[in-house]
Amino acid sequence: MKKVAIFASGNGSNYEKIMENIQANYLTEIEVVGLYTDKRDAFAIERARRFRTPVHIFELNQYENKVAYEEAILKQLHRDEVEWIILAGYMKLIGDTLLHEYEGKILNIHPSLLPSFPGKNAVGQALQFGVRVTGATVHYVDNGMDTGKIIDQMSCPIYEDDTEETLQLRVQNLEYELYPRVIKKIIQ
Ligand code: GRF
Repeated sequence: MKKVAIFASGNGSNYEKIMENIQANYLTEIEVVGLYTDKRDAFAIERARRFRTPVHIFELNQYENKVAYEEAILKQLHRDEVEWIILAGYMKLIGDTLLHEYEGKILNIHPSLLPSFPGKNAVGQALQFGVRVTGATVHYVDNGMDTGKIIDQMSCPIYEDDTEETLQLRVQNLEYELYPRVIKKIIQ
């Protein structure tokens, strides 16, 4: 069983789905040893308390710079003996300090069919561009913005009457299926 840390900045629904898959004995390959967040008001923290996942809060503005911030995170990762990092709505680029040690062992999920629509508000971007198909992508993390090697994707249609809310829901439902499946396959 591999020890993993989940990084989340906000809502944390992907974190929760991963935990549900562990509880349902589908994801038996991982143990989530910590929920790491950069936002003390992240709703993910409340979800983590429900699943009794230890929470670690690291706020960038409490540190001199990004390197010092990531060094603090790294220390905790070492204490937790973390082997893999799962990003689930973590809204910062991973810097060299973390990459140096964990490159190839960091996964991210993104709500578009990469390489289309990297960065923020991918669902809104897809809607605005008028593409007829979008989806979700799980990829390895490198030093770019959603640029790492793609592992797997799922797609869904975009309908004429979609709003950001309806499309977001459709894409998130793909994520809830895709991420646990990829985690199961990749983290062994
Ligand atoms: C997801 O759409 C994910 O693809 C993106 O951030 C969102 C996180 O949602 N990276 P949640 O916090 O898991 O609900």
